[in-house]
Amino acid sequence: GCLQLEPDSEWQLDTLTTANFVTHAPPGEFNEVFNDVRLLLNNDNLLREGASHSFAQYNMDQFTPAKLDGYEEPVLITEHGDLGQGRFLDPRNRLAFRFDHLRKEVSDVQPYEGETALKSWRDACDTSLSAYVKEHYPTGVCTVYGKTVDGQQTIIACIEGHQFQPKNFWNGRCRSEWKLTIGQSTAQVVGVLKIQVHYYEDGNVQLVSHKEVEESIPVTNESQTAKEFVDIIENAENDYQTAISENYQTMSDTTFKALRRQLPVTRTKIDWNKILSYKIGKEMQNA
Ligand SMILES: *[C@@H]1O[C@H](CO)[C@@H](O)[C@H](O)[C@H]1NC(C)=O
Repeated sequence: GCLQLEPDSEWQLDTLTTANFVTHAPPGEFNEVFNDVRLLLNNDNLLREGASHSFAQYNMDQFTPAKLDGYEEPVLITEHGDLGQGRFLDPRNRLAFRFDHLRKEVSDVQPYEGETALKSWRDACDTSLSAYVKEHYPTGVCTVYGKTVDGQQTIIACIEGHQFQPKNFWNGRCRSEWKLTIGQSTAQVVGVLKIQVHYYEDGNVQLVSHKEVEESIPVTNESQTAKEFVDIIENAENDYQTAISENYQTMSDTTFKALRRQLPVTRTKIDWNKILSYKIGKEMQNA
């Protein structure tokens, strides 16, 4: 069932079965779900046809980080960086590369200029956002694109942070996508924030939450507007992650008595251990 929490945030409790299609695989578990589906379908040809498309879609949907040799920071695989023919854009380093969706490996790295008109806006937003992500996410990655969308100068910022802890029977991922549409004197900010967690110690439960944010900011110059853009992102993500922590608390006190451990609220950093480390009991499976 679904629990309505904030007006625009909802929890879905999905009982995962092998019948779920592979693109709905929880964070970090594509290969496991893929193998389950393979056994279930018992039809490798049918699966192979859909597989390469599914792998690519899954990696883009999940904002999968990719590591380029010689570059310290990973780049995210997203639809915004999709150049076709299996190639993706690294807008920070102005590179294009081939990505093997199955092995998550990068090859054939080439210089790639992209849209130069938005370079100074993109760079300013990337600088501000990278500083925030480093501070806020223990293992966060961000990728910032600058492109003209429907004739409007647009910055698209993607953020990803995850913890995969198969030994402790959970995997979790935060994602957010922020669009800054730059007008004459104001810029529109639209964000979508998502948290997805899969627990499978005593049951097999997936928690999926998302929230949408819309604001506007004045356009002054690149560095000032980038700073205000990232201030909005930081406030929204703090509010969201705090609300989620508090909701865990409420859920564990009321609906799901099986959620045993208390979850402290963290206002400055996302702390996966605190937010995610509780167990699903037998009752949860029957909820
Ligand atoms: C950008 O705008 C802000 C606010 O109007 C101002 O304080 C700052 O000096 C400006 N920076 C540049 C480089 O023009």
